[in-house]
Amino acid sequence: MMEDSWKLFYVFGILVFGLAAQWKAVKSDVGSMSCGFPAVYNFGDSNSDTGGISAALNEILPPNGETFFGHPAGRACDGRLIIDFIAENLKLPYLSAYLDSVGTNFRHGANFATGGSSVRPPGYSPFNLGVQISQFIQFKARSTALYNQLSLNRRIPLTISNLPRPAEFSQALFTLDIGQNDLSYGFQHTTEKQVLASIPGITGQLSQAILVLYKEGARFFWVHNTGPLGCLPYSVLYDKLKPGNLDKNGCVKLHNEVAMEFNRQLKDKVSRLRTQLPFAKFTYVDVYSAKYALISNAKKLGFVDPANFCCGSFYGYHINCGKKATVNGTVYGNPCNHPSRHVSWDGIHYSQAANMWIAQRILNGSFSDPPVPIQDACQHQRKM
Ligand SMILES: *[C@@H]1O[C@H](CO)[C@@H](O)[C@H](O)[C@H]1NC(C)=O
Ligand SMILES: *[C@@H]1O[C@H](CO)[C@@H](O)[C@H](O)[C@H]1NC(C)=O
Repeated sequence: MMEDSWKLFYVFGILVFGLAAQWKAVKSDVGSMSCGFPAVYNFGDSNSDTGGISAALNEILPPNGETFFGHPAGRACDGRLIIDFIAENLKLPYLSAYLDSVGTNFRHGANFATGGSSVRPPGYSPFNLGVQISQFIQFKARSTALYNQLSLNRRIPLTISNLPRPAEFSQALFTLDIGQNDLSYGFQHTTEKQVLASIPGITGQLSQAILVLYKEGARFFWVHNTGPLGCLPYSVLYDKLKPGNLDKNGCVKLHNEVAMEFNRQLKDKVSRLRTQLPFAKFTYVDVYSAKYALISNAKKLGFVDPANFCCGSFYGYHINCGKKATVNGTVYGNPCNHPSRHVSWDGIHYSQAANMWIAQRILNGSFSDPPVPIQDACQHQRKM
């Protein structure tokens, strides 16, 4: 009997020691990064949707995912998105989509972004930013209640390991990439003047959403501005015929000018939030310039003409990526052979190769205000 309990003690000791050693290893790994964000909560549209809209409404079909996951992975891309490279950079798992009910793990964050989402309704998707923020509030409340309830049990069930630690919400990085669909929906349904006039309302609502997150305990924000809408092959396809419409890189000038105006106002809103919320940290990320740098140097960087896209097809009307059509014996809609040579995957969404190029440049802070790497986004800029 005595001997048995010693054995037990010994085994227990090894277990504790082992866990402690493991914990230390994890800690020092994280310790090499200044902030050690334990989680990421993301809000946005298809640029950062890792499976939300695919689970909720429109399943994303092959060949999406072919380059990296080997199967459709809820992303409108052949592989990883910028948000996936953010997760890799922070040494966290890829984010599960909040709306996905199969195989999800929210221990290190959740993704509320869904394809087609805009800041404000109406739009292409019911899951506008306001809805995403409500979902986060509910997620936080319910996961905290469940965590606390399960922690009282002596035998902790497995499900607890998929839940966020309540104390980690305020240490997490909150990332936002949204607004592109407000502009493109505006261009489709209203005049250019109306789109311009709508910008203060859109950026105002985005800023309001950040205030709500702050009230919920969020402190660290990483805000992407909107990309060069006029360089998306779909914008170009529909607008290239109007004379004088394209710039020297083949992008629709007007759409890009409006996107830049949106970004000026967004940057201004973020500056105001900084003074309004001195205990929060904001990094404004100029994704527009990173994407435009890629597009204007595409050929030098080994990409094909950035107006071409890899998946889906256009010959008078377009066939979405994942669909095929046979016209006069010719099959349209097959993906290209080398997605990594295309900036655009499907005419709207960037390829994994493009996302990687952009991520490599934005994550080290070279397109950010303040210019700090994402791992340091909890701090004031270091004095030089
Ligand atoms: C298919 O064939 C018809 C009849 O020859 C022709 O009018 C039409 O333009 C063709 N369509 C395409 C997409 O080639
Ligand atoms: C960030 O990374 C890019 C690509 O590797 C590099 O060209 C750039 O100089 C880096 N910037 C900083 C501030 O480290």
